[in-house]
Order: sequence, then C-alpha cells, then structure tokens
Amino acid sequence: MVRHFLRDDDLTPREQRQVIELALAFRDDRFIRSPLVGPRAVAIIFDKPTLRTQVSFTTGVAELGGYPLLVDGKLAQIGRRESVADTAHVIGRQVAAIVWRTFEQAHLAEMAELAGVPVVNALTDAFHPCQVLADLVTLAQHRGGAAALAGSTFAYVGDGANNMAHSYLLGGATAGLHVRVGTPAGYLPDAQVLEDARRIAAETGGSVRVVHTIEEAVAGADVVATDTWVSMGQEDEAAERETPFVPFRVDAAALALAAPDALVMHCLPAYRGKEITAEVLDGPQSVVWDEAENRLHAQKALLTYLLERA
Ligand code: NVA
Repeated sequence: MVRHFLRDDDLTPREQRQVIELALAFRDDRFIRSPLVGPRAVAIIFDKPTLRTQVSFTTGVAELGGYPLLVDGKLAQIGRRESVADTAHVIGRQVAAIVWRTFEQAHLAEMAELAGVPVVNALTDAFHPCQVLADLVTLAQHRGGAAALAGSTFAYVGDGANNMAHSYLLGGATAGLHVRVGTPAGYLPDAQVLEDARRIAAETGGSVRVVHTIEEAVAGADVVATDTWVSMGQEDEAAERETPFVPFRVDAAALALAAPDALVMHCLPAYRGKEITAEVLDGPQSVVWDEAENRLHAQKALLTYLLERA
C-alpha cells in the first residue's frame, strides 16, 4: 500500500520515532541511504512562497540519489487550468513521489488518492507536518535522542488556528509531548484536530491543552515556539490580526517563565518585534537555525521511509 504524509498523524508513534532516528543518523552522515538512485525524480510543487522547503527538499532529493523536479505552481495552475485528478495521473506515472505546498488539504488528499506514489504535505492551510517533524528532530538533537521526547512540555503561542498549531497538536501528541497552545479566544484550533490530538495523547502518555494567556502556556515549558500572526494566504487580514496576538509575543519576560534551559523555536520566516523579539529569536536559547537545517534531515528520512514502503 502506498503511504503518504498528509498530516502529522499519518505516522504512528512508532513510525514517527523511527523517522526521527533515521533523521538523526542523516545528521551524522548525509549519504547513508540512496532510495532514489537512478536518478528517480520527485516532483516538488509550490503554490505558495517558499525558501526553506524548496532548499531542503531539492537538496534532500539530490542527496538521496534522485532528481528534484521543481514544478512552478503558477505555471501548472493545479485545480484551475487542470484538475487535481488529471494532474495526479500525469505526474504520478513519471515520478517516485510528489511533494506539494498548496492551500486546500482536500486537494492534497485527492492527489494522494490518485497519484499512485507517496504524496508529502509541504504545507497546506491546515497542516505543516514536515516542519513539526524537523522540530521534533531538533528537540531530540538537543535532549539526548528520540527516546527523550516523550514527557517534554511543548508550548506554542500565537495563532491557535493555523497550520503550525494543528501540526504541533497532532505531531506533538504522537511524540508523547505535553502540548500547550496559548492563543486568543477567537483563534482556537479546529475542534476535530483537537479531538484527534487528545485521542493520540491518551495512547502515548502525552497531553493537549489550549490556554488563553502566554503565562499559562509557557510556565515551566521545555520548548517555547511561535509563528507569524499572518500566515500565507491571510494577507488581507493583516490589519485585524495586529492587535489580538500582542499579549502572546515571545519576549524575554515570557521566556523567563519557561524552564531555564528551554529551547526557542520558530519555523520562520520570523517578524522580529511582532510575534517574537529580536533579543529572543537571536538569543542563546534559540535553535531556529537547527530547525531549518533539520528540515533537510527530517524530510530525507521521511522520503526514505515512505519510498521503502511504496
Ligand atoms: N503559518 C505559516 C507557516 C510558514 C512556514 C504560514 O502558513 O505562512
């Protein structure tokens, strides 16, 4: 059966741990596996802006022995010029896997249903599971391996309704983390995602909480993470999103409430002075460059895992 990574819980807790361990092995030696030797192509499609995702997937596919086939979403116009279904048939017959950054999760699911090859979510409006996988690798890197993840407290503050919030809930619960989302009342996570995360946490020994002050969210936390207040596609809402998140800004005072050795994470791009101060983002507890590098290792491990089961 072809396996996909459309949302964080497409990997079971055991599988997620194996992928994290393989990613840590790729950190030590970038050429330990070559599942794409041939070279076989991986289509990497962008309907939204990108930096880290483009660099890490193209580099990663090349390092796995494959050919990174960049598809410009503006030219392909998937879902407008040509249906998702027709595109899936065309691309799926030629490549080993499809990596797609787009808006609607339902389009990604349709691609996965019809392409006949593994499909990877490179960010949708609903989830950003590759980033959370990289963040878990980063936590494992700094805290003694994948086995050390379960039981850690992971605080995410900011927009509780965005893709990062949803992926931290699902991916964090899968890893057995205690996930706290600190967000204003008007920006709650999707109820179904929250329920799914609670169910997973009950199996892994983790937990999930949504709170409405930054103090409650970060108190004693092992990780403090945040994200932009205005996600890609929400540019029209920028003005109305200026004020509600201000109390959730990650500054030195908020960070002082977390564990003394807490790690600071941000998926980037960061807006210094908005969701996080420059002092914290560029400070000694920040691991944002490790997170960005770990996109490469995490995605290579993920592609290897999926391709070996395709
Ligand atoms: N929530 C952000 C994540 C960027 C990597 C966005 O969707 O724009």
